[in-house]
Amino acid sequence: MKALVYKGPGEKSWEEVPNPQIQQPTDVIVKMDATTICGTDLHILKGDVPAVQVGRVLGHEGIGVVTEIGSGVTQLAVGDRVILACVSSCGRCTNCRIGLYSHCLNPEGIAGIGWIFGHMIDGTQAEYVRVPFAENSAYKLPDGVTDAEGILLSDILPTGFEIGVQYGRVKPGDVVAVVGAGPVGLSAVVTSRLYGPSKVIAIDLDPARLARAKSFGATDTVNSGDSDWKEQVFALTDGSGVDVAIEAVGIPRTFTMATELVRPGGNIANIGVHGESVDLALNELWIKNITISTGLVNTNTLGMLLKLVAEHSLPVEQFVTHEFAFDKIMEAYDVFGNAGKHDALKVLIH
Ligand SMILES: NC(=O)c1ccc[n+]([C@@H]2O[C@H](COP(=O)([O-])OP(=O)(O)OC[C@H]3O[C@@H](n4cnc5c(N)ncnc54)[C@H](O)[C@@H]3O)[C@@H](O)[C@H]2O)c1
Ligand SMILES: [Zn+2]
Ligand SMILES: [Zn+2]
Repeated sequence: MKALVYKGPGEKSWEEVPNPQIQQPTDVIVKMDATTICGTDLHILKGDVPAVQVGRVLGHEGIGVVTEIGSGVTQLAVGDRVILACVSSCGRCTNCRIGLYSHCLNPEGIAGIGWIFGHMIDGTQAEYVRVPFAENSAYKLPDGVTDAEGILLSDILPTGFEIGVQYGRVKPGDVVAVVGAGPVGLSAVVTSRLYGPSKVIAIDLDPARLARAKSFGATDTVNSGDSDWKEQVFALTDGSGVDVAIEAVGIPRTFTMATELVRPGGNIANIGVHGESVDLALNELWIKNITISTGLVNTNTLGMLLKLVAEHSLPVEQFVTHEFAFDKIMEAYDVFGNAGKHDALKVLIH
C-alpha cells in the first residue's frame, strides 16, 4: 500500500510500505476513505516530537471501512464505516474507566500515552491502518455524515470541546474569549455555543481567520495585532474581564494574553501544545480566584459530538477548505503548511 512516511526532520515521502496486519485480538484493519493533516503533524516534521521514529506512517485522524477484525472484536464488523479517534484507548484500565483515555495504561506504544497513531505506531495517512482497541477507539458513522464533517471528530472538535469548553466550565451567559482562531480555536468557538454563552470573542492576528470566526458562532472578533486589543476585549465585558479565556495557539504570549483577559473567579483553559516554558504572574493572579486547566484530548465526547454533527446541530461543514486525492498528499501538506497564503483551515484527503 501507499503511505505518507516520516523520513526525519523536514523529510517525508508518499511511498510503498507493507500492508498492516492484525497483531492483537482487539485490533481491526481499516481501509481509509479520508484523512487530514493536523498542526501536530507539522510539529513532528519540524523534529519537535523526537519519539516519532524515522519510517513511521504519519496521521492520527481518519474515516474508513473495516476490512478485517481481530478474534476478540464483537461490536464491529467487516464493512462498517468508522471514524477513528486520535486517541487509542483500551476502555478497561483505571484511567480509561474514568474517561481519561488520553492516559490509557495499556501498553501499545507507551503505557500512559493514548495518542499513539502517527506517533508510536503507524498512522492514518495511508491506504490501510491497524486500529488497536478498536471497539473503544473507532465509532460507527451514521449515514448522512459526510467525510468532511466526520473527519473533524477524530481530533479537533473533541479537543476544542473537552479541553477548551468543558475544562473551561463555560456556562449560560458567560463571556468567552478564544485566543487563536485556527481549526482548534474555532472548534472551541462552535462547541461553546452548546452552553449558551452571551458572547464568544475570537482573537487572532489573521483578519481572514477572524472573518471566518463569525460563521462558526463568534459574536465578536478582536485582532490582537491592535495595540488596544485588550481594551477592545474588556469593552465587550462588564469591565472586569471574560468569564472563560481559552488559549488555542501554544506560545507563551497567547497564554499570557489569556491570563490578562480573565475576570476574578474566571477560568483559563489552555489547549495549545507548548514547546517552551511559560511565565505565570502568580503574584498578580493569586488574588483573582481563577482556575487554570490544561490537557490532552480524551475523545471521550466523540460519540456525543457525533450525534450533534449527524443532526446538523453544529455549523461544521465550513472547516474543510481544500480537498485532495491521496496521491496528492504532498500538495496537501504544502497548502496546510502555508495555511495563511492559501486561506486554508482543514484539508481533506480522500
Ligand atoms: N491539547 C490537545 O489535546 C491538542 C489537540 C490538538 C491540537 N492542539 C494544539 O492546539 C493549538 C491550535 O491548533 P490549530 O491546529 O488550530 O493551530 P493553528 O496554527 O492552525 O492556529 C493557531 C492560530 O493562532 C493564531 N495566532 C498566532 N499567534 C497569535 C497571537 N499572538 N494572537 C492571537 N492569535 C495568534 C494564528 O494566526 C492561527 O490562526 C496548537 O498548539 C495545537 O498543537 C492541542
Ligand atoms: Zn491532531
Ligand atoms: Zn486504557
